[in-house]
Amino acid sequence: MNYSNFITDVAKRRRPATMRELTKKAYSAPKDTISLAEGMPNEEVFPFTKISVKLYDGSDLTLDDKELAAALQYVPTQGYPPLLQTLREFQRRAHAPPLWESRDIVVVSGSQDGLSKTLEAIIGTGDPILVPDVFYPGVEVVVAPHKAEFITIPQDDDGPIPEVLREILRNRQFSGGKMPKVMYINATGTNPTGIIIPLERRKAIYRIACEYNFLIIDDDPYHFMHFEREEPKSFLSLDTEGRVIRLDSFSKVISSGIRLGFVTATAPLIATVELHLQSSHLHAPTLSQVLMYKLLEIWGFNGFMKHCMHLRRYYKERRDIMSALAHKHLNGLVDFNIPKGGFFLWINVREIENTWKMIMQRGVREGVLLAPGAAFMKDSTIPCNAVRASFAKASNKEMDLALQRLAQLIRAELAENYIENVDT
Ligand SMILES: Cc1ncc(COP(=O)(O)O)c(C=O)c1O
Repeated sequence: MNYSNFITDVAKRRRPATMRELTKKAYSAPKDTISLAEGMPNEEVFPFTKISVKLYDGSDLTLDDKELAAALQYVPTQGYPPLLQTLREFQRRAHAPPLWESRDIVVVSGSQDGLSKTLEAIIGTGDPILVPDVFYPGVEVVVAPHKAEFITIPQDDDGPIPEVLREILRNRQFSGGKMPKVMYINATGTNPTGIIIPLERRKAIYRIACEYNFLIIDDDPYHFMHFEREEPKSFLSLDTEGRVIRLDSFSKVISSGIRLGFVTATAPLIATVELHLQSSHLHAPTLSQVLMYKLLEIWGFNGFMKHCMHLRRYYKERRDIMSALAHKHLNGLVDFNIPKGGFFLWINVREIENTWKMIMQRGVREGVLLAPGAAFMKDSTIPCNAVRASFAKASNKEMDLALQRLAQLIRAELAENYIENVDT
């Protein structure tokens, strides 16, 4: 594939930063090479002399002298080389992507960093982007300043509807509109709706991407955090043409404060993201990268999956508790589906056209914070009757109280609307 058609002029104008390229060379140079090139501080005068963390099974993870020195230093922009190698093997095992030899990985500071860098490589001023009709707001904040045009694709309980997607693209092509270069998808445990796009639908969307020549960004931080029997087959594993940019995150499965994620895509797209990183924060935090490398080294792939199984049981139990509480407190007021993955219950409130004011004013006043549905639309001024509630962190008692308070908010809002209608 020729990626130059997908890349903005700004991205094309980026050039390698010489000092960053020298750091890359220093890492791959023969052992007897002496580098006076870089601006690296001397680790001997850093205040940290040992880094050791205890894991939840009681075992210790301690960095040896070499790892400690590396953890406290600059590394090549693409990532700490031993971690990069581990992640390459991880991706092959987790997704068996076709065309693996043509792909690469870049480590980023969380999925959002990968998302913003990839979107900014593709979306130029006024470019269209395909998005589901409600979607993770981290996309909007990146592309709105570029005056991107959102082409929203209606969804049902299985995600964006392929027939409608095709119809929208066909009409657009027919009328000579600018065609989108990319579609944003969050396929597993979707934020905010908690769905999992089924395999057949993933295949259908991928076929349309090939037909209408656009890339797919699959932002998939909940891939290992689903509650179904069957493992989801990622878009990357279906990608026979090199169209999928996969975003992984350690935020939900290891720690969000560690700020680590990684992008997997064909090498030219990874190189574009790498150049952007060279000009921004140079690389993802090395200490996090080295800790992550050590953890994956200790656990291996199977150990990581075992940890994910533990997470799934943990969050599934929370999901079930919140769903039961929603039935108890919100019965007759709302509709919702049981989330299949991720952290969120997406609650459609009956008879309220827009939940924004109810949540942002009355909710804040009454001591319950929830996310108003409109925050997940292309423009938060569009009315939305939904509310997103997280079951990830609050205690059972807090979830119980929060949903009781939500019921009170809804009743108060309905009463106010009723009085207004009677008055007019
Ligand atoms: C769909 C989605 N993408 C990206 C992110 C950001 O994740 P990270 O912490 O890896 O930047 C989130 C976090 O909530 C998310 O839900």
